[in-house]
Amino acid sequence: MAFVTEGNLTDLAVKRWATARSPRLAELMTALVRHLHAYAREVELTGEEWAAAVDWLTATGRISDDKRQEFILASDVLGLSTLVVQLNHRFSADATPATVLGPFHIDGSPAAPFGADMSDGVPGTPLFVTGRVLDLAGTPLPDVVLDVWQADADGTYEAQLPEIDEARLRATYRTRADGTYCVRTIAPRGYAIPMDGPVGGLISGTDISYFRPAHIHFLIDHPGHQKLITHLFQQGAEFLDTDVVFGTKDELIVRFTERPAGACPDGGTIDEPYLHAEFDFVLQPQAHTTDDEVTA
Ligand code: BEZ
Ligand code: FE
Repeated sequence: MAFVTEGNLTDLAVKRWATARSPRLAELMTALVRHLHAYAREVELTGEEWAAAVDWLTATGRISDDKRQEFILASDVLGLSTLVVQLNHRFSADATPATVLGPFHIDGSPAAPFGADMSDGVPGTPLFVTGRVLDLAGTPLPDVVLDVWQADADGTYEAQLPEIDEARLRATYRTRADGTYCVRTIAPRGYAIPMDGPVGGLISGTDISYFRPAHIHFLIDHPGHQKLITHLFQQGAEFLDTDVVFGTKDELIVRFTERPAGACPDGGTIDEPYLHAEFDFVLQPQAHTTDDEVTA
């Protein structure tokens, strides 16, 4: 083997990692080595800075558990999570765009009938979200499950409240025969990402706004269509143009119209003023797979 010099080190390390037996792992690791070395060369990384980075990564691992994922948060604020979403969801312009999942989704939310109130007494302004789920041709899709979750009016998710043992501000709704759905909830508010860990520590040394604009999360995984993980954002909300995780998209911004007490979108009545957001989700068909790809 050639002795190591500053000049040949990157090539030597790339050749070593090119021996990975999985071709994809070889591609991932050799590119990682090239980019890491280029980064260290570009910024002339010092030993102290390298050690500080190791300490930061160690702290990020230590604070993470099954409820808190600080590495995902790091990926979110660096824009990497949104980039991965973009690279893997090159949907047609007519389909509803995807955005980040975020760390607060909980599997197995209870089924809620059309118009059922998933806020169930949590304080806030009543909000109805209604619309249809459609395919790309505009055909309404019946029996589509919409998995919906959001923060309360203080910006707190159920996943951040260990003492809660029943579903809070999350539910699964199903479209009716005509493709319509109706979610009843409370208006979400913008909130700060967790700032008490290593990610918050880094952000505190910058002018980055650490808030997310008011939004509701939706996950729609319907057979024959690509899984859609997205949000609806309130038009005019604070932080839309500075979303700390780069999740906001123009197509996902919806007007929350103020309505008086009286008739409401689930066909019933309500005795206080409420907000109404209307949005049709358009699903991207499953990518065509050849027989070769299926058996590969
Ligand atoms: C969220 O929308 O729930 C979220 C996404 C990324 C980081 C923190 C929160
Ligand atoms: Fe969120």
